[in-house]
Amino acid sequence: MALKILIADPSDKWIESASNFLKSESYEITSVSNGKDAQLALYNDKFFAVILNFDLQNHSGLQVLKFIQRNSPSQRVIVVLESQSIIDEEERTSEDQLKKYAMVEILVKPFEVRSLKSVLEGHQSLGDYMKNIKTREGQSDEVEVENSDDDFTKVRIDDFYSSKAVLFDVFIKLKSNKYIKILHAGDTFSKDRIDKYRNEKNVEHLYFHNLDRRKFIQYHNKLATKLIDNKNIPAAAKVKMIRNVADKYIQEAYTQGMKPQVVDQGKEVCENIYNLVENDKSLFKVLKSYEEFDPTAFTHAFLVTLFSTAIIKQFDWQSKTTIEATALACLFHDIGKMKLPKELLNKRPIDMTDDEYALYITHPQLGVEIIEENRMINNSVKQIILQHHENYDGTGFPFKKKGTSILTLANIVCLANDFVHTMIDGEIDPPTALKKILIDRDQVSKYNSMIIENFIKVFVDPAKIVKETSLPSNSKIVNKKAS
Ligand SMILES: [Fe+2]
Ligand SMILES: [Fe+2]
Repeated sequence: MALKILIADPSDKWIESASNFLKSESYEITSVSNGKDAQLALYNDKFFAVILNFDLQNHSGLQVLKFIQRNSPSQRVIVVLESQSIIDEEERTSEDQLKKYAMVEILVKPFEVRSLKSVLEGHQSLGDYMKNIKTREGQSDEVEVENSDDDFTKVRIDDFYSSKAVLFDVFIKLKSNKYIKILHAGDTFSKDRIDKYRNEKNVEHLYFHNLDRRKFIQYHNKLATKLIDNKNIPAAAKVKMIRNVADKYIQEAYTQGMKPQVVDQGKEVCENIYNLVENDKSLFKVLKSYEEFDPTAFTHAFLVTLFSTAIIKQFDWQSKTTIEATALACLFHDIGKMKLPKELLNKRPIDMTDDEYALYITHPQLGVEIIEENRMINNSVKQIILQHHENYDGTGFPFKKKGTSILTLANIVCLANDFVHTMIDGEIDPPTALKKILIDRDQVSKYNSMIIENFIKVFVDPAKIVKETSLPSNSKIVNKKAS
């Protein structure tokens, strides 16, 4: 069953080219050339998305948009503008105003009709992809393609899983800018073909188009959900699976920006992280042993997420909401660095000049600016990002906040962040990094002592932790619960 799309555009020629392209991508198309017919079509049928030209006659695009808002506010709409100037003229409507209507994306003509594909797919769930894929029995031939390396996302061959029908094209790399497509979207998945490359040709990585990254994340996250529920699978395998999803998700968020559908996906990833720390009693073993867990193979953001959530889990007041909000904040905690000059990113703060350092310490605020507009990210997520370098003893930045004026969750992320740096920069295993922090008085004074205590517990078998009857008094939230 194909996904239905309504195209409303005054130009027959444009309708024709957009319809032909989308039909070739397996969509079912209804097209109209005026606003009245668009409303009638919307009244009579349900559509996955509407591609709506703002310059429609006989009921303008804005009128149709208002109609949609009244009658089906969850309808996805892609607004097509004849030129950017339409948006700039203040008597028409601004981009922000447009975004208040329905689930809106804006495209400005002229654009390649091909870009409709990624815009539409950006809103699709795994079920939608499955519905809309043209499947064929067996596999298509392998083809050599030339394509820029920048267009591809790389994944370890052992970390790649697929549904029965392959959701997107899968490649191996021949040399720079040259690839072989070994599986085509819609093919029946062939493990033999993958194994052939792994075993006979020692191929270590598979590649897929950046545009398909969302599908990769959706599928692997769904798989992770099932894996986490399975008691027979070791925690290390679960961590590896989530790392795989989270790493690709971070790449997606950094390239796509904080679009609602990207944030939505992040929330799903965080739900899995929550389930992992909540339900796996043997996670502590993975977190403390170096053999099972090679920190250099992980991205910084994912490790910070993993350790922050594991620390929160030790607090009595922890809940699904706190863990998920913190996980989301951790995935984006350094997103503000995107706005800093590239050469700064490879420098350690101690190696920076005064001017560089002054710029570097703005990254928490820059991060909040990036996500500010997003209504789906709540205030505590923003506060955690803003305060992730504030220290309990007042030596942090950007506000030199002190003591309980710092959000406990932000102070937890601060510790996890420092810990991950200690571990990776020093190339030491987690317990040694922990010791290194604990023997350094100055360092320990950066965190609320309750946090340090609970951090130590992350590495201890939960069965051996005796519940304290009275908790130290330096955390308001803890006191409330404990009394
Ligand atoms: Fe940071
Ligand atoms: Fe960081």
